[in-house]
Amino acid sequence: MSNKKKFTTNKGIPVPNDQASITTGKGSNYTMLGDSHLTEKLAHFGRERIPERVVHAKGTGAYGYFEVTNDLSKYTRAKFLSEVGKKTEVFIRFSTVGGERGSADAKRDPRGTAMKYYTEEGNYDLVGNNTPIFFIRDAIKFPDFIHTQKRNPKNNLSDADMFWDFMSLTPESIHQATFLFTDRGTPQNYRHMDLFGSHSFMWYNEKNEYVWVKYHFKTAQGIQNLTNDEAIKMCGENPDHATEDLFNAIEEGNYPEWNVYVQIMTPEEAEKYEFDPFDVTKVWFHGDYPLIPLGKLVLNKNPENFFAEVEQVAFAPSNFVPGIGPSPDRLLQGRLFSYEDTQRHRLGPNHHQIPINRAKNAEVNTYQRDGPMTVTDNGGSGPNYYPNSFDGPEVDETVTPPTIELKAEINRHPRPVEDVDFFQTGELWRRVLSDEDKDHLVYNIVAHLGNAQERIQYRQCALFYKAEPEYGTRVAEGIGLDISKVKNLSEMTQEERVEATKK
Ligand code: HEM
Repeated sequence: MSNKKKFTTNKGIPVPNDQASITTGKGSNYTMLGDSHLTEKLAHFGRERIPERVVHAKGTGAYGYFEVTNDLSKYTRAKFLSEVGKKTEVFIRFSTVGGERGSADAKRDPRGTAMKYYTEEGNYDLVGNNTPIFFIRDAIKFPDFIHTQKRNPKNNLSDADMFWDFMSLTPESIHQATFLFTDRGTPQNYRHMDLFGSHSFMWYNEKNEYVWVKYHFKTAQGIQNLTNDEAIKMCGENPDHATEDLFNAIEEGNYPEWNVYVQIMTPEEAEKYEFDPFDVTKVWFHGDYPLIPLGKLVLNKNPENFFAEVEQVAFAPSNFVPGIGPSPDRLLQGRLFSYEDTQRHRLGPNHHQIPINRAKNAEVNTYQRDGPMTVTDNGGSGPNYYPNSFDGPEVDETVTPPTIELKAEINRHPRPVEDVDFFQTGELWRRVLSDEDKDHLVYNIVAHLGNAQERIQYRQCALFYKAEPEYGTRVAEGIGLDISKVKNLSEMTQEERVEATKK
């Protein structure tokens, strides 16, 4: 007898032959509908695809752990952060944003960095990017923004007009657009980049005293990027280069690491800060809020099965554990709804029961029952309603988060674009970027914006000019625009600029 496992149908029935359908005779012949092994196989194959993620469709994942290296438990009651040396299992998925499931890893795009911490108080998800900021600051703009990053509805092609039309009509995007067109927009791979929580979050302790925090994960491998030309070449030569790089590094025992830090701001400081600290288009200056060490993240195990683990993993920024919560960042507030909502469509309402999404290190005791694909014991014979007097699970009032007092004015409050929205981009140009970085930034933008309509080029260059005249001038020169016209446009209000550059 062979030691090999027996080949069965998906009901476990042994299969006698998998090379020939049941037919009415030898040679060309009619196939029997009663060949249930054949029909099961074809029917299952026809249902192999699930909807790809509406954004971040191309990605890869790995397991690892987070270890606390500095005790900040006076700020947060989260148990996984309670003491130095404490380790928590993590699953991470890296991704690009705009491309489809088979698109190239080297495309210019932010990189998604979604993490699931399997803590003893349930799963905590930190769903960030490799950028500390974002293009927009109100969730209502997100679907439109993403449409412009995808394909033209008529010809199904990427479209520089859509891309820059939206950016130039949405000036708060300038900081992130600038970041994206530096070489950090084309990282060498997923190991050689920093990761960020991007938004500000609440941390609160046992006494319900709270602070605001931002997370930073600094790569221990060092930052390395591709130039624009290298990235374009890589897209053709190896569309999966970053997927391959991460997998091979982990297979070889070359485990990637990140040192994790937080910036911490008190509620009193937040009220007085020079700009809205919850606006995700801005960074908190490190001079004001230095990076405080928290821990390290190590990735040390590849998934066994890509579909089961990476494709089916579901992260949601709304998954907080006691001690951590959201801030009043308008973009984050919209995200609190969107992820679980799309996952109910992408994976089904019981997606939390898929092994990769289960709370591995905490008990799940819910009164929710039934629904498609229920694969747990479904609460067994326990009560399925609350309150009950049959010893069902009880709430724990000690994990109530702090009360936030508000004086509200409920309405749609537009956020006008102000000079402060251009200041940090100017500082990036003046203080952070090297001469070589600036050369690459200008080259990268010219290569892309050069494909848009001229009136859109003018509108966008005026924004670069407003952030820093040298920046706007160099991009405009690279495209061949009239600099005095760019300067004029930069001095207008956004409404006047839009009027002056309309079709
Ligand atoms: C994925 C919505 C902003 C990072 C997704 C998905 C949706 C979504 C619907 C697909 C989730 C899935 O199918 O499982 C939104 C909305 C946003 C927003 C509505 C703004 C209002 C952001 C921001 C970041 C971010 C600011 C980073 C700071 C990610 C990442 C993923 C993702 C990393 C991939 C998760 C994975 O690997 O499965 N987003 N997003 N998103 N988003 Fe966002």
